[in-house]
Formats: sequence, C-alpha cells, structure tokens
Amino acid sequence: MRLQGKVAIITGAAGGMGQAGAVLFAREGAKVAVVDLQEAEAQPTVQMIRDEGGTAIAIGADVTRPDDVARIVARTVAELGPPTVLYNNAGVDLESKLPVHEISEEAFDRTIEVNLKGPWLMIKHVVPHMIAAGGGSIVNAASIGAFIAALTAGYCASKAGLVALTRVAAVELARYNIRVNSLCPGATMSPMTERELEELQARGLFDPKSIYRMSAFGRMAKPMEQAKAALFLACDDSSYVTGAPLIVDGGWTSLSGVPTSS
Ligand SMILES: NC(=O)c1ccc[n+]([C@@H]2O[C@H](COP(=O)([O-])OP(=O)(O)OC[C@H]3O[C@@H](n4cnc5c(N)ncnc54)[C@H](O)[C@@H]3O)[C@@H](O)[C@H]2O)c1
Repeated sequence: MRLQGKVAIITGAAGGMGQAGAVLFAREGAKVAVVDLQEAEAQPTVQMIRDEGGTAIAIGADVTRPDDVARIVARTVAELGPPTVLYNNAGVDLESKLPVHEISEEAFDRTIEVNLKGPWLMIKHVVPHMIAAGGGSIVNAASIGAFIAALTAGYCASKAGLVALTRVAAVELARYNIRVNSLCPGATMSPMTERELEELQARGLFDPKSIYRMSAFGRMAKPMEQAKAALFLACDDSSYVTGAPLIVDGGWTSLSGVPTSS
C-alpha cells in the first residue's frame, strides 16, 4: 500500500484520468477528496471507492475560484485530515480545433484559468498543510502539448506554463520535503478525448490512421495507465524525483518525423 495513511486531493476526478487516479490512490490506502465542478458529478467516483472498502468524499468546486479552493481544503482537513498528496488533474481544452487566430478571448482566458491558475491556487492553499505535516507530493497534470503543437495554442501554452510552474515550485518547496512534478500524457481515452473524436467525426474530419501518428503502439492510453504514472509521482517510490515532466505518451513525441507504415 504505497499511500497508506495519506490524505489526497484529486481535482477533476468525476471521470477519465482523475477518476482512475482517485480509485487507484484509494486502493493504495489514501483517503481521497474527489473534486469536480458539481458534487453530484464527483459522487460516482466516491461510490466506486467506497464499494472497494476505501474512504472518499465528494466536493463540488471550481478550482479557478479562490473561495471554492479554500473550501476544498477546509473540508478535506475537517473530514479526512491534512492533505499531503495533491493531484491537480482538472483541465479543459476549449474550442479544441480552432487555429490560434480564431480562438475566442473567452476560451483562451478560461483555458489558462483552469489549466494554470487552478493548479497554482490549489498549491497555494494546500502547501501550508503539507509544511505543517512535514512534507508532501504534488502532481500536476500537464500534457505533451507543453512540448509539441498537439492541440490549441491556449491549451499548449497553459500546459507549458504548468510545467514551468512545477519546476519553480519544486525548487522552492524542496526545503519543506515537498516534491512537485508534472505528468505529461499523450493521447488517452477519456470523456475529453471522446468529445474531441465526436466533434471530428461530426465534421467528417476523423482519420482512423491518425492514431498511428499519436502512438508508437497504435492505440491510446487507458486512464489507468496514466493513473499508475501519477501514483509513482505521488508516492515515495519517486523520492528523488522533483521538478520533472514525466512523459507518458506511448512514444508520440519520439515519432516526430518518423514515417509510419499505416
Ligand atoms: N485525454 C487526453 O488525451 C489528455 C492528454 C494530455 C493531458 N490531458 C490532461 O489530463 C487531465 C485529465 O484529462 P481527461 O482527459 O481525463 O479530461 P476530462 O475532461 O475527461 O476530465 C477533466 C475533469 O475536470 C473537470 N473540470 C474542468 N474544469 C474544472 C474546474 N474549473 N474545476 C474543477 N473541475 C474541473 C471536468 O468536469 C472533468 O470531470 C487534464 O488536465 C487534461 O488536460 C489529457
């Protein structure tokens, strides 16, 4: 049990990678605060954890709002105990198929708010509890979009910003025994990906062979494959890892320029 006795907060955990992470962290002994926009959306994940004998609470909150973030942390401390694991997983990819000059200002601002400001706000509110507890581990869900032009300009910029924020936080918080790393997934099957595929299919733009340009394995990752990488970063198995972007992309970034047979 790699997270035995720990209290973990996971944002955006109603489905996809966040849900897989919440279930896996609970299996490894953590008590989990399952955060998503609406409490009702977070409830099924909580139920999955309780059905397996684990401990979890659902919290409805928007990670871009300081009052909501303060409430996430206050409820976690009151109902589960001080958090020493934070998995900033909530993220959005808005207007996902528009080029840089066509994205709306609203979509750009919201993307930066959710994907970059949200994790910072969470860190700001959680870190005092980690310091008081003698340490902790923070995992920020970035993306390979931080390194390659995989998605929209706003999305990739937000994730590159998150990788940079992670490095600074790692250096500044090491003295408190707090590690900070970013998980950089490639294409992973999740509600976000399903929405994007449906949009492409509706516009007649989906090319089944495109998956071979996104993975050396010719398939997308399963959410649990990302959750296992997040667990590695969250637990003491990665005790000497901090400030690192862990790329879990089935070889997508290595494929650049490689002609595919399909
Ligand atoms: N799916 C992929 O291929 C992929 C690839 C690289 C990175 N990522 C990143 O991994 C993370 C998880 O992705 P996913 O595919 O599971 O996404 P998803 O859309 O399936 O899940 C994200 C969750 O975040 C929640 N959320 C959105 N805004 C929020 C806010 N302001 N406050 C609280 N919760 C909020 C959503 O309601 C949703 O449940 C995201 O940060 C995403 O950018 C995904």
